[in-house]
Amino acid sequence: MILIAPSILSANFTRLGENIRRVENAGADWLHIDVMDGHFVPNITIGPQVVADIRQESKLLLDVHLMIEQPQLIIPAFAEAGADIITVHLETCKHLNRVINQIKDLGIKAGVALNPATPIGLLEDTIEELDLLLLMTVNPGFGGQKFIPSSIKKIYKARQMLEQIAKPIYLEVDGGINAETAKDTVKAGANVLVAGSYIFKSASPEDALQNLRVINTGLDPQR
Ligand code: DX5
Ligand code: ZN
Repeated sequence: MILIAPSILSANFTRLGENIRRVENAGADWLHIDVMDGHFVPNITIGPQVVADIRQESKLLLDVHLMIEQPQLIIPAFAEAGADIITVHLETCKHLNRVINQIKDLGIKAGVALNPATPIGLLEDTIEELDLLLLMTVNPGFGGQKFIPSSIKKIYKARQMLEQIAKPIYLEVDGGINAETAKDTVKAGANVLVAGSYIFKSASPEDALQNLRVINTGLDPQR
């Protein structure tokens, strides 16, 4: 089962509620929320208040992707705001195990994200503790970038690692996902597709979601 998580980074922020309702009605599975601090990544986006407001408006699972330094300082505020999954970047955590436990102790799912240049092997001893592994398929910071082709090999590797683990862990891909690139990532083993510009900048977000769904139904049911 492949899940689709539209990223609101490419939504129109003056019409955020309307944009979210549209993808929710069109069958989105999760809502992906990109939090950027201007330090870890060059861009700045939104904080916990916006997440709390979205929580009031939408029943979708809120998948919060923290691209920020010192995430441990603000994780409780995002949990309080209604996040269902909080993902931190490995590159921002000196004490990754502590941060994963911090998130889980707040009663929510914990994810870890890797930049394209960060080797998957660094998670060898931690992977079992995760609920979600997020592989960045662009360098984080902006929507609308081009998918990095070498990501495919990394997704295969991650899928092999995850297959050694008894419990299910989501394998999410984020960056440059469209109907074409999504196909390859699903084939390599991804099961959560984040898509920002492909959905929200499209003339028809409904059609864009449907194009990603088709990939879903074309899947090997074993996976
Ligand atoms: C990039 C963000 C992504 C972004 C993806 O740093 O993490 O979630 O919204 O945007 P697209 O799908 O346009 O590449
Ligand atoms: Zn993201």
